[in-house]
Amino acid sequence: MSEIVKARLHVYPNGGAAARALARHVADAIRVKPDLVLGLPTGRTPVGFYHELSALAERGYFEFRGVTTFNLDEFLGIPPSHPSSYRRFMETHLFSRVGLPASQTNFLAGDVTDPEAECERYERAIARAGGIDVQILGIGTNGHIGFNEPGPILQARTHRVTMRPETRRSNAALFDGNLGAVPREALSMGMATILQARSIVLLATGQTKASCVARLLSGGITTELPASFLQLHSAVDIVVDAAAASAIPGAVSEH
Ligand code: GLP
Repeated sequence: MSEIVKARLHVYPNGGAAARALARHVADAIRVKPDLVLGLPTGRTPVGFYHELSALAERGYFEFRGVTTFNLDEFLGIPPSHPSSYRRFMETHLFSRVGLPASQTNFLAGDVTDPEAECERYERAIARAGGIDVQILGIGTNGHIGFNEPGPILQARTHRVTMRPETRRSNAALFDGNLGAVPREALSMGMATILQARSIVLLATGQTKASCVARLLSGGITTELPASFLQLHSAVDIVVDAAAASAIPGAVSEH
């Protein structure tokens, strides 16, 4: 009988320790493979991770210049230059600090006239880059990954999505708290796009993520919790702080 591979859980006492550990993990992967293809998320959670990763690059621990990145998703209907776009978020928190040229950073464009063609372009670009080596994920409070929202079905490939109300609310901070300004739609990598990454690390911090983290580790696989599909992948690490681990029976901080 084949061995059942489970996601590896790493519990840290707080978000800062989790961010430092993930930054070290990614930096070490880049030291081993300087032309790593890295999938990246946005949100409040990865800000500390991007800060730590930039600091390691600035200290000369590793070189970022050979890396190619693909961001998971982008709002539909706003241009890349919009101050609330995910592209701008990444430029602010990571790319400007590590000096990564725009030619090595890949985004879905939110201002295209043909979103379906844009999604197909993105899939081709990922394939042309040789696939994603390490995909970093956050998780929504409703269990979404990227913008793959809970519901009766999930999409395999990069696609256009209507955001759920709770997802728009949690993204309102990027629009100065103005919920009305948050686009209703987005473009997102699909579930198969994500699951084809060679390895995946999900970062979750804070009490609001605790229930989803516990369910994704030990519940069944369901479209109502898109993150539960990570159970289908054989190389997944879940990096959490103590608050996000608080609903996992018997979870103790090992670091
Ligand atoms: C957005 C992104 C997700 C991200 C989520 C979590 O909806 N599309 O990729 O995981 O936010 O955000 P936060 O880290 O702010 O909780």
